Amino acid sequence: MNYHVKDISLAQEGKKKIDWAEAHMPVLVALRHKYEDEKPLKGIKIAGCLHVTKETGVLARVLQSVGAELAWCGCNPLSTQDDVAASLATDEHISVFARRGVSTREYYDDIRSVMAIEPNITIDDGADLTIEMHKDMMAKSVIYGGTEETTTGVVRLRALQTAGKLKYPIIAVNDAETKHDFDNVYGTGQSALDGIIRATNILLAGKNVIVAGYGHVGKGIAKRAAGMGCNVTVTEVDPIAALKAKLDGFSVSQMLSASATGDVFITTTGCKGVISEEEIVRMKDGAILANAGHFNVEISIPAIEAQSTNSTRINEHTVQYKLKTGSRIYLIAEGRLVNLAAAEGHPSEVMDMSFANQFLSVMKLAESKGSMKPLVYNVEISQDREIALAKLESMRIQIDNLTDEQRLYLEGFSEGT
Ligand SMILES: NC(=O)c1ccc[n+]([C@@H]2O[C@H](COP(=O)([O-])OP(=O)(O)OC[C@H]3O[C@@H](n4cnc5c(N)ncnc54)[C@H](O)[C@@H]3O)[C@@H](O)[C@H]2O)c1
Repeated sequence: MNYHVKDISLAQEGKKKIDWAEAHMPVLVALRHKYEDEKPLKGIKIAGCLHVTKETGVLARVLQSVGAELAWCGCNPLSTQDDVAASLATDEHISVFARRGVSTREYYDDIRSVMAIEPNITIDDGADLTIEMHKDMMAKSVIYGGTEETTTGVVRLRALQTAGKLKYPIIAVNDAETKHDFDNVYGTGQSALDGIIRATNILLAGKNVIVAGYGHVGKGIAKRAAGMGCNVTVTEVDPIAALKAKLDGFSVSQMLSASATGDVFITTTGCKGVISEEEIVRMKDGAILANAGHFNVEISIPAIEAQSTNSTRINEHTVQYKLKTGSRIYLIAEGRLVNLAAAEGHPSEVMDMSFANQFLSVMKLAESKGSMKPLVYNVEISQDREIALAKLESMRIQIDNLTDEQRLYLEGFSEGT
């Protein structure tokens, strides 16, 4: 069922939240001020498939204020903030097809609804919209290109490119330094713990926390969990990442041995079956399981179901499974992104940089008018620097500039001492 949100009282709540986010996103707001008179996106149709959060609300407002026509859906069945969706539909008159708790069928129906505007540009998070565009509808759209927000989406789209099947250019927003080195690390690092706390209200201090994956997301969560007094153990498949975790002061072990000691498990790998049946049967009574990776495949839910005698929902976010071993384990948010499903997603301050990257990437695609080849492109370093500088300025932080003499020294090879 397509769901076009229009609800006045919900919308009022959503508007206040978007206003709050906007007040914490100075870089994106400065871009709006720079371009809103000129309206460079006039006549451009954008299909957006991003978590419908208050920060996404700000991005949608900004894109619309510089001329774009928008249709929007969520990129995860559990991450839509219904009040934000209602405000975008009611106050901003954007076609929004998103509701928290949609079924898989409704989720894809919503994606197809935004495709129906025949977009010139797609904005995606996880690549579900882009992949659907590749199956269908493309013939009808005059497509200039798309952007991709997250690691898993970029991995999928690079695989499509390698297979020779990528049909339109994608700018890998995730791979901008001002995105993944901040959003994935500090944003998910903080908000994943926020989700676990909101869902359980456990005391984190003193708990054994097992973090699967020590990439950007994993290292952010591990560091913040350690800061809250947890004993953190990291599991990895990459020897370099494992070594970094060890030298950053964490224990490193295999998931199989960690499974018997963990109080809280958090998966952050982008991989499937990271916690499987053999680990689940070893878990202690009371173990809590959460996922911060893009898809709900990291914790094997079929394995939990196969090993449990019954399940009880104990609150909005948490289900208790009674295992055949006698232990009770607790799964948060059905194994979906814990920070978005059980909390509000990343703080606005960090999404400011991610969405400034989205905005400038969309501008680049609009300027290209379809002339870019169907490849996955990195964000240019000049864009990264522009955003970092603007963010520092918004924080009233000044940094030094190289003198000409220093620049020559750094660029040359003749002067050693
Ligand atoms: N929750 C959010 O809001 C949010 C934000 C950003 C990214 N993400 C998602 O989080 C996931 C990780 O993103 P990232 O930027 O940290 O990626 P990354 O590539 O930087 O890190 C992933 C790490 O997981 C490790 N890994 C892979 N398979 C593993 C396995 N089976 N066991 C243990 N470790 C394994 C890899 O070696 C790597 O070090 C992706 O799915 C990404 O899309 C979620």
